[in-house]
Amino acid sequence: MKTLLVLLKVVLFLWLLIRVAESKDIMEVLETDNDRFSMLVQAINFAGIEDTLRKGSYTIFAPTNAAFSNLSKDVVDELFSNATKMKSLLSSHIVDGIFYLSDLMKLEELMTIDGVVINIKDLGSSNMVGNSTITQTDMKADNGVIHTIASVLQTTE
Ligand SMILES: *[C@@H]1O[C@H](CO)[C@@H](O)[C@H](O)[C@H]1NC(C)=O
Ligand SMILES: *[C@@H]1O[C@H](CO)[C@@H](O)[C@H](O)[C@H]1NC(C)=O
Ligand SMILES: *[C@@H]1O[C@H](CO)[C@@H](O)[C@H](O)[C@H]1NC(C)=O
Repeated sequence: MKTLLVLLKVVLFLWLLIRVAESKDIMEVLETDNDRFSMLVQAINFAGIEDTLRKGSYTIFAPTNAAFSNLSKDVVDELFSNATKMKSLLSSHIVDGIFYLSDLMKLEELMTIDGVVINIKDLGSSNMVGNSTITQTDMKADNGVIHTIASVLQTTE
């Protein structure tokens, strides 16, 4: 039993190594950056939209763990008890199509996959989406691009 477990772990490890060497989809990029995105990955899994982010081509504004930790505990609890609500929140961070920073800078707004309009602002060196600053731009994935944001985008509901 123990040998089997060790063997499984070795196989898993090798598989992971190979996967890392290959190119990664959006989910994989987020998953390999636990320090920043473990909350987002949890949220995506809870909402059940991880498959979406493994296909297609998307732009995702990715709130960091710090951004999630700035939400009140009540809000977080509510989101993690209602997948519909979580999905709707996350969907307002995802745009169909690939928009690099250079594309964003030519735009004033974008429509998310949920039909929510988010404003794009270029305040000199700090670009804003909605009311959040974009802290890291243009992280490339196989099926899209990730921009890290400093706070969770609030949707007015
Ligand atoms: C979950 O959230 C949705 C959308 O906000 C709402 O319509 C629904 O009633 C909620 N479900 C529960 C069980 O609270
Ligand atoms: C963004 O901030 C402005 C000014 O503080 C506020 O009026 C607006 O409602 C905020 N928008 C969102 C989506 O939170
Ligand atoms: C997080 O909350 C702290 C304390 O309320 C605040 O100072 C900080 O600006 C917030 N950060 C973000 C990214 O919203």
